[in-house]
Amino acid sequence: MSQKQTTTISVIKADIGSLAGHHVVHPDTMAAAAKVLAEAKSKGIVIDYYVTHAGDDLELIMTHRKGVDAPEIHETAWNAFREAAKVAKDLGLYAAGQDLLTDAFSGNVRGLGPAAAEMEFIERPAEPVIVFMADKTEPGAFNLPLYKVFADPFTTAGLVIDPKLHDGFKFEIYDVMAGKYVVMNAPEEMYDILALIGTPGRFVVRKVYRKSDNEIAAVVAVERLNLIAGQYVGKDDPVAIVRAQSGFPAVGEVLEPFAFPHLVAGWMRGSHFGPLMPVAQRNARCTRFDGPPRVVALGFQIKNGRLIGPADLFDDPAFDEARRQAQVIADYMRRHGPFMPHRLGPEEMEYTTLPQVLQKLQSRFVESKLYQVKGPKVKTELLHE
Ligand code: F6R
Ligand code: MG
Ligand code: MG
Repeated sequence: MSQKQTTTISVIKADIGSLAGHHVVHPDTMAAAAKVLAEAKSKGIVIDYYVTHAGDDLELIMTHRKGVDAPEIHETAWNAFREAAKVAKDLGLYAAGQDLLTDAFSGNVRGLGPAAAEMEFIERPAEPVIVFMADKTEPGAFNLPLYKVFADPFTTAGLVIDPKLHDGFKFEIYDVMAGKYVVMNAPEEMYDILALIGTPGRFVVRKVYRKSDNEIAAVVAVERLNLIAGQYVGKDDPVAIVRAQSGFPAVGEVLEPFAFPHLVAGWMRGSHFGPLMPVAQRNARCTRFDGPPRVVALGFQIKNGRLIGPADLFDDPAFDEARRQAQVIADYMRRHGPFMPHRLGPEEMEYTTLPQVLQKLQSRFVESKLYQVKGPKVKTELLHE
């Protein structure tokens, strides 16, 4: 391997149908996808691959030399999803083909339904990478943990005591509503960063770079399916890739924020707040009220493009307490039933099926002259546009 040769890791995912409602990917669909990737490996398109799932999402982890957004890689993933969806249809799986929004592939999966997180780098002598895969939540679910990993010294001790991390990191924040992004520096602009990413339904951490040398540290798939499709087609269950150790936060620092099961949007019908529960791969199956939302972390070493591993990082009693807390929070939130703040607020509900229910009530409202409303018009009101 020449010194300048880069390796790319691409994690591309789609919900192509699942077993018993939106519960879990069927092994036969994973096998169909793996067959396509094995063929791509034999042709030298990918160097290595690992097929897995998070709940009802089929996850393709691939390494190759073709860089980010490579048409050949995206086409391979698309073909794998198509083959898996065929099996899903044959088996009568639920929502078969759900995330494949078109029949025509056009060089890149972005905008077609699947979500992709990809990063390209020159391998270090030892290259630990963590792939996070979440089900029943949205890309902004990674805002809080990524902020803590790369900007909070109470999480990442290395920010204070390791000279290689001490300069801090740059956050690329994407506005999913406007299709614009901004790059901001931590620690200098911490408060401004938080002013944006504290609204995770709109501002999503898309990439993190090490400030001293611009090395890529983390990347998140930011596709919001409902905004792409223009209607509710399920939640945008996200994936993220994070590099760890020697100059990046340690694996343990990258996992640390997940010891706090923070509230994320998603869960039942993509319409409820619930705790993000870190689980072992075997427990990446959403059951209670189609949840609670959960996240898996698989650790790999990448060597000459080969994926060594995975290590199932949340399969550890050290995360039992986070899981127990998540259950307590789930109970507490569920007791609100259809009331906010368990149910999402009106702005977020615009992208669900609620507007269809409310539409029929529109004509029943009668003008009331009790007092004149002078305040600013609320644009996002569901009933009275
Ligand atoms: C959330 C999700 C599920 C479904 C729910 C209703 O991302 O996938 O919670 O929204 O099971 O599904 P349908 O409308 O297909 O009956
Ligand atoms: Mg589903
Ligand atoms: Mg899902």
